[in-house]
Amino acid sequence: MLLWGGRFTKKPNIFFKQFNDSLKIDYKLLQQEILASIAWSKILVDSKILSEEEQKKIEHSLKKILKKTTLNSKSLLSSNSEDIHSWIENQLINDLGNLGKKIHTGRSRNEQITTDLKLWCKIQIINLISGIKHLKKSFVELAENTYDAIMPGYTHLQRAQPITFSHWCLAYFEMLKRDESRLNDTLKRTDVSPLGSGALAGTTLNIDRYKLAKLMNFKSVTANSLDSVSDRDYVVELLSVASISMLHLSRFSEDLIFFNSGESNFIELSDNITTGSSLMPQKKNPDALEIIRSKCGRVYGSLISILVILKGLPLSYNKDMQEDKEGLFDAITTWNDCLKMSCLVLKNIKINYINCKKAARMGYSNATELADYLVSKGISFRESHSIAGRLVLHAIKENSTLESLPLFIFKKYSEVIEKDIYRYLSIDSLFKKRNSIGGVSSTQIKIAINQAKKELLD
Ligand code: ARG
Repeated sequence: MLLWGGRFTKKPNIFFKQFNDSLKIDYKLLQQEILASIAWSKILVDSKILSEEEQKKIEHSLKKILKKTTLNSKSLLSSNSEDIHSWIENQLINDLGNLGKKIHTGRSRNEQITTDLKLWCKIQIINLISGIKHLKKSFVELAENTYDAIMPGYTHLQRAQPITFSHWCLAYFEMLKRDESRLNDTLKRTDVSPLGSGALAGTTLNIDRYKLAKLMNFKSVTANSLDSVSDRDYVVELLSVASISMLHLSRFSEDLIFFNSGESNFIELSDNITTGSSLMPQKKNPDALEIIRSKCGRVYGSLISILVILKGLPLSYNKDMQEDKEGLFDAITTWNDCLKMSCLVLKNIKINYINCKKAARMGYSNATELADYLVSKGISFRESHSIAGRLVLHAIKENSTLESLPLFIFKKYSEVIEKDIYRYLSIDSLFKKRNSIGGVSSTQIKIAINQAKKELLD
């Protein structure tokens, strides 16, 4: 049954109906629509539209509908109803007859849909926070286990300065921390009830919107009815947070794909998250990570889509907004899956310690130490930089590392260089010296791991 047939003399065109109906997408809001409808029925008692007894019957019937319907129920998915609101109202009318027709008094689908969607987003945010916490934990565990794995750090994808695998893990821990904090912020702005705003100008019923909000477990109520039904900022915000977080996951994937490549050979991914080639028997491909890297683009697509849908849209509700859900639902599933997959990848990673260390020693990544040494002997940094650069060039020509050059060669470039240069150029000294907050020294890494473990308990 249509909710709005009275004014029309013709039935909707069959193709138009298919084109317009949104049940195939918004059926996912079943639980939220029931919760909001139960809350609304209680408010209708305060407004003397329903007696206590009638409200009880409606509530009982709504709970019954929820109990017998799962999100893959045939009765829901193959129904001819326009949307989830019509579907539930029709079920209620089927069950209670005329009494069921009273539920829609004083409310509009424009406010119902955004109420349901906000309730849905709130659940997802809480779930996503827990997914992020799991991944943060996986990074900290790996950081603890790879404490002594020395590897090259890169800028411009050129070996720059040695770091440890733990340091790399903790960098992603920081990114995820920010993602989590952004989700918490989004939750605050989403946790505001729009119900009681009517179609756009407020409801005619004399209701307590704070009580209504509380019945649905919302923290507060929206202040302007026109804004209430037009606002989809929370969708944009959640998709923005999703995009930033997926950006982090895609960089993490790319790093590991590179570390796992034959060229680096720093890590080995587990057999259970990789695939083989149908032609080349030797191949073991990092598919899990490649898929995470590309899913990021899919989530960006959903963000761009909602931004473009809303751009220039006049107040208040417009049917354009019906297109908000498909991309959002898809992005949240994608994000959740990628968080889960990332945990799985980290759990089974094997570090190739010897290769990591060997690579860290190569590429003249201790050239900065040589420059610092010269500075410590009173030479200006500019001059030191140039001397160190010329010594690197010398070593490249000799196919040697800096620390294997004999002292007389060092002296050719600068008289101030003495035997203690070899201590300076050693990897151990390099790590020890980077001891300010956030640095790669073992003291700082220990502090960072302890701090991270403390934060995981919050
Ligand atoms: N299906 C609509 C949406 O998803 C909700 C109903 C909107 N109101 C209306 N008058 N058709 O946005």
